[in-house]
This record gives sequence, C-alpha cells and structure tokens, in this order.
Amino acid sequence: MNNTLIVYFSLFQNTANLALEIAIQTGGTLRELIPDKNYSFDYNTAAKEARSEISRGFCPKLISGNESIEDYQTIFIGSPNWFKTFAPPVMSFLRQHDFAGKTIIPFCTHGGGGFGQIENDMAKECPKAVFLPGIEANPSVEPEEVTNWLETIGYK
Ligand SMILES: Cc1cc2nc3c(=O)[nH]c(=O)nc-3n(C[C@H](O)[C@H](O)[C@H](O)COP(=O)(O)O)c2cc1C
Repeated sequence: MNNTLIVYFSLFQNTANLALEIAIQTGGTLRELIPDKNYSFDYNTAAKEARSEISRGFCPKLISGNESIEDYQTIFIGSPNWFKTFAPPVMSFLRQHDFAGKTIIPFCTHGGGGFGQIENDMAKECPKAVFLPGIEANPSVEPEEVTNWLETIGYK
C-alpha cells in the first residue's frame, strides 16, 4: 500500500485542486477535512468567522477527515492561507493525531502572502515530525511545477 496521505481543507477549491494534483502525482490517498459547520462562501462573512476562530484558537469538530493516520508515513497537509496561518480545521487535525516519526510536507494556496506563518505554525504543533519544504500557489500551479518540486524534495 502507498503510505502517503494528502490531507487538506479548502473553502473555494483552490487548495483542493492542488491537493488533487499532489495525490495524482504521488499516488497517495486524498482526504478532505470537513468541519461540522462550514464557513460562509461570502468572503467578508468568512473573514469574520475565520478571524474569530483563529484568535480564540478554536478547533472545529471534524465530520470527515479525522480518521487514523497510523497507516501513513508521509503526510502532505494543505490549507488556504487565512490571516497568515492555516485554517482552523487543519488545527483540529494537527491537535488530534500523533505525528512523531512521520514526515510532514505542507502546501498552501494564497492571495499573495505565500506561506506566511503556516510552516512555522505547523512545526510548532508537530515538534516530533520531520518537515520537508512545501509548495505554495497563488492560487494554482502547473502540474510540471508540482513534479519539479516533488523531485527537489526527493519524493520522486
Ligand atoms: C478568511 C480568509 C482569509 C484570508 N487571508 C489571507 C492572507 O492573510 N493572505 C493571503 O495571501 N491570502 C489570504 N486569503 C486568500 C486565500 O488564501 C486564497 O484565496 C486561497 O487560495 C483560498 O483557498 P481555497 O480556495 O482552498 O479556499 C484569505 C481568504 C479568506 C477566505
């Protein structure tokens, strides 16, 4: 079995598209994080909801995506950049699993801010994991860029 997992949260599908490309190229298992209450598709409302949750350190309940990670060694974790960090459903996922000895590879999509603090914040949450350099997209990248990146980090 392929021991690669691609976990992501996405509101407007940009991160979902990148996750899918990574899954296609790695042959890994794709897993979407779905919170019990989804965010508004209206940007301003979503911004209010997200800002409030992030400032409180709120971890929404996941109705999907929180299954065991025991069978996986390499875990790609993706999120949109929300106020320079990852979205709260990703925090829920990170807080509920033990990443000791696993390899984590972050990815994100954004509107110009790149990773922001996403990589640092993930590393803080998972101090016992090994991190490899991630990929960021504004809001998408060509499949060849994903291929090149996977080669650069030694995945392919
Ligand atoms: C609540 C919210 C906060 C955002 N904050 C940032 C930000 O701080 N920096 C940035 O570059 N883009 C920011 N964006 C833009 C998103 O990161 C970007 O549109 C991303 O591709 C959306 O991913 P998705 O389609 O998977 O939801 C924000 C978007 C939303 C909805």
